[in-house]
Amino acid sequence: MAGMGEMADALLTVRGITRRFADRTILSEVDLDVGAGEAVGVVGPNGSGKSTLLRCIVGVDEADEGTATLVGRVLDERVPEIRRDLAVVMDDLDFFPDLSVVEHLDLVARAHAQPDAEEIVNTVLAEVGLMEVSGQLPSTLSSGQRRRLALASAFVRPRRLLVLDEPEQRLDVDGVQWLGHKLVAEKSAGRAILLVSHDPDLVALVCDRVVRLGPAPDPDHE
Ligand SMILES: Nc1ncnc2c1ncn2[C@@H]1O[C@H](COP(=O)(O)OP(=O)(O)O)[C@@H](O)[C@H]1O
Ligand SMILES: [Mg+2]
Repeated sequence: MAGMGEMADALLTVRGITRRFADRTILSEVDLDVGAGEAVGVVGPNGSGKSTLLRCIVGVDEADEGTATLVGRVLDERVPEIRRDLAVVMDDLDFFPDLSVVEHLDLVARAHAQPDAEEIVNTVLAEVGLMEVSGQLPSTLSSGQRRRLALASAFVRPRRLLVLDEPEQRLDVDGVQWLGHKLVAEKSAGRAILLVSHDPDLVALVCDRVVRLGPAPDPDHE
């Protein structure tokens, strides 16, 4: 693999993202690059604009200024060629009420033309520990299991960039540990990761660089 962090490797390029709501400027000219095999963390207090940044980057929200490009293409979830490369797990989990765990994963894998869908679904089901509940409907899962299902949905599809908003939410200790190792393996496979997280250990394990949003940390605490 080519050297990490070089501009030539940038898979995701974010330039000058600015987002205002009414008279409040939530994001002001945010720049970042994520290369293949690299993970960038986004941290900051509640309300500092982390989710807004991710939404602007993946194109579900529109920035007032600035651009995000994935391998040179302006990011927009509505464009199939871009969606193909992009796996997103945000904090709003939505499932079909009448599809079981395995049916969800199968649908996602096949919809994205994943080769060997059945095998991948089985592997990911085992990895995330949902094999025993694979026949159950989402409404019968615990909140942590639903979070695992959302993550599994990202891992059964093709992807070059993973965008994750607080993926550690509601996971137990084993779940967070699994997630950390999984994300490190994703980097080794040459994928790029943009990770919002409140878990400093997860950020330290996974991220090569960190972008901090919101007020600068209190210098007395440094
Ligand atoms: N659609 C919206 N309309 C108005 N304000 C919004 C909207 N979305 C987010 N905000 C505001 O932007 C700020 C940042 O929100 P958010 O990006 O969710 O923060 P974080 O994810 O860092 O906790 C918050 O003050 C939030 O209320
Ligand atoms: Mg958020």
